[in-house]
Amino acid sequence: MRKPSALALALAFVLATLAFAAVPEKVTVSAASAKQPPVTFNHAMHAAKLVKTCETCHHNHKGLTAAAKVEVKKCTSCHLDTKGNVMPSAREMSMTKNPFHIRCAACHKTEKKGPVVCAGCHVKKKA
Ligand code: HEC
Ligand code: HEC
Ligand code: HEC
Ligand code: HEC
Repeated sequence: MRKPSALALALAFVLATLAFAAVPEKVTVSAASAKQPPVTFNHAMHAAKLVKTCETCHHNHKGLTAAAKVEVKKCTSCHLDTKGNVMPSAREMSMTKNPFHIRCAACHKTEKKGPVVCAGCHVKKKA
């Protein structure tokens, strides 16, 4: 009887993880793209080793882990059209005012790794 119950548990665990968005492999952020091409990056690699905690980026999800059973909110569900708000807007071009520029580019700069020039993140589609 021990084997099947362990298997059932393992299965339940897998299903539970699948039911909620698994940590995506690649992420494309395009919600604001009007002046610049969308930005695609290796999310799994950032989540697993480049960045210490999920919360560094998903600051609104305290204590988020890969195993957490929660629905993760898109940054842009809050950070679009924030005029007159304390929140930085994803529509900003400035390197110090756009939430992605603040969070993403700043780390690349301090770690001297990862793209810091516009076209390094905003990659133009090949025609
Ligand atoms: C580290 C990656 C990164 C770098 C470097 C970067 N950006 Fe962005 N930028 C983003 C992300 C991610 C967004 C959000 C995109 C979206 O929501 O469509 C964004 C949004 C924008 C937006 C607002 C959305 C739009 O397309 O109108 C502008 C404008 C922009 N960036 C311009 C620039 C310029 C100019 C540079 C260089 C001086 C630059 N970015 C460098 C990642 C980056
Ligand atoms: C480098 C910053 C960064 C790190 C670290 C990070 N994420 Fe993300 N994650 C993002 C961005 C950006 C998106 C796309 C959000 C958007 O489109 O606005 C995203 C999207 C997601 C999504 C999909 C949300 C959706 O509805 O599309 C999930 C789930 C997620 N992340 C979970 C995690 C977990 C769990 C961790 C830690 C193990 C983690 N992330 C670490 C930046 C990050
Ligand atoms: C539920 C709404 C919500 C979501 C989702 C959200 N934010 Fe924020 N964010 C805020 C609010 C409110 C502020 C301003 C108050 C503060 O600093 O906490 C803010 C501030 C920021 C700041 C400026 C302050 C700082 O920490 O330097 C950055 C950068 C930022 N967010 C990036 C992100 C990124 C990247 C994502 C997605 C991975 C994200 N946010 C998701 C609500 C949100
Ligand atoms: C805490 C540090 C840190 C943060 C925050 C961070 N990155 Fe990075 N990123 C790195 C490092 C380090 C590399 C270089 C990896 C390598 O070359 O091995 C990198 C590489 C990249 C690359 C090139 C490889 C790939 O993933 O395609 C892109 C694009 C990128 N980052 C985009 C982003 C975006 C967009 C965000 C914000 C949502 C972000 N990064 C946030 C540290 C960070």
